[in-house]
Amino acid sequence: MTSLFFLVFLFSSLLTQYVDASPNYVDALSKSLLFFQGQRSGPLPPDQKISWRASSGLSDGSSANVDLTGGYYDAGDNVKFNFPMAFTTTMLSWSTLEYGDQMGPELKNARVNIRWATDYLLKCATATPGKLYVGVGDPNADHKCWERPEDMDTPRTVYSVSSSNPGSDVAAETAAAMAAASMVFREVDSEYSILLLSTAKNVMQFAIQYIGNYSDSLSSSVCPFYCSYSGYKDELMWGAAWLLKATNDPYYKNYIESLGGGGQPDSFNWDSKYAGAYVLLSQRALLNRDGNYELYKQEAESFICKILPNSPSSSTHYTQGGLMYKSPQSNLQHVTAITFLLTTYAKYMKATQHTFYCGNSVNPEALITLSKQQVDYILGENPKKMSYMVGFGSKFPMRIHHRASSLPSKSLGCGGGFKYYETQNPNPNILTGAIVGGPDQNDKYPDRRDGYGLSEPATYINAAFVGTLAYFASGGSV
Ligand SMILES: *[C@@H]1O[C@H](CO)[C@@H](O)[C@H](O)[C@H]1NC(C)=O
Repeated sequence: MTSLFFLVFLFSSLLTQYVDASPNYVDALSKSLLFFQGQRSGPLPPDQKISWRASSGLSDGSSANVDLTGGYYDAGDNVKFNFPMAFTTTMLSWSTLEYGDQMGPELKNARVNIRWATDYLLKCATATPGKLYVGVGDPNADHKCWERPEDMDTPRTVYSVSSSNPGSDVAAETAAAMAAASMVFREVDSEYSILLLSTAKNVMQFAIQYIGNYSDSLSSSVCPFYCSYSGYKDELMWGAAWLLKATNDPYYKNYIESLGGGGQPDSFNWDSKYAGAYVLLSQRALLNRDGNYELYKQEAESFICKILPNSPSSSTHYTQGGLMYKSPQSNLQHVTAITFLLTTYAKYMKATQHTFYCGNSVNPEALITLSKQQVDYILGENPKKMSYMVGFGSKFPMRIHHRASSLPSKSLGCGGGFKYYETQNPNPNILTGAIVGGPDQNDKYPDRRDGYGLSEPATYINAAFVGTLAYFASGGSV
């Protein structure tokens, strides 16, 4: 007996010592979803687990005599920006559609997170005929204060688009979110699913009929925060692609064709959606073997060729430590969104035994290997040996740029919180699961609250990570 125990002990210590154990993806998945509770606006339910948050924004919409409570704060502030919120919702839904079967007990949490957004987006789309509400809270006033959402005393201005002030970008993204979510709920709540889809169709019609950039009419209320820099054409393709997937209505196929060629992106994020639309439409070329979508498959592959490090057309920089590096501001949003596309395209390739060329032949394993390397970097396999997900592993960001996380649970007024912003002390409230903007181009992370480009979390960083984590949590065996 003794020797058997000894052998088992010896063997397991050898394992931990010599085998480069992967991060605990199951734990990371669970935390990545828990994070959304920390971003909640509106009345919080009794089962709220991030317990240092409380109800907030309870009169949102009242200035327009409508109920716009609920939804998520986008990042470290207290503003509800629907453009990135809708993108977050689309990506959470896509994650769930592709990898829900691999989520185990987390599937229900993913659905709860999606619904927290879609309940709000439905209000925004239906509260006033002819209008789509696209945000609550004056961002310029909000950014002058450092206070918890529970205490905010800044104007909760309501923003909207309409036929005379169009916003095809925000409307098409909102339609994408509701169409994608309608498929998530199809089997579990058909009434809700039908409501989401019919609303998505109306909002998409509005986006198509009244063409324009929402930044033109909303200017300083959305710019420079979530200005639609890339214009609305990418969202029109993306929104129509989601409606096509949800309805199979040839109207959307014809509409997508009428848009003509899209851009040739080398990124994917809340502003720039072509790469996502191409991968989504490739599903039809690969899985349904529908030749009408060959063009989008080629576009998806030329996008991936711009990402792969060894490809002749690569335009993507990698840090010495191996991190994909796209931007000094919130770089990890690009990394999580792109790795989602790599993983998902690899899944479609595997299912159809497809390979393609960028210089050399690319197989699905090459995409998965790159994706895993990025995920592992974020979770701690990097030069600093720290995880960029709060509360994951033994070393993680302690001073994230996030009002609620950085402030004690008491009311301090607009400016009273700045002494907590400026201190070197760690944040008093752990925003478990939050992924920050990430390290700089030299793999350095100063962990400073005022360096928001690196230290601010955002819902869209996490949303795109959820699906990839579910893939690796289940052993990567899709
Ligand atoms: C929308 O914005 C894009 C990008 O800035 C620009 O190219 C386009 O002309 C704008 N469209 C309209 C109708 O203003």
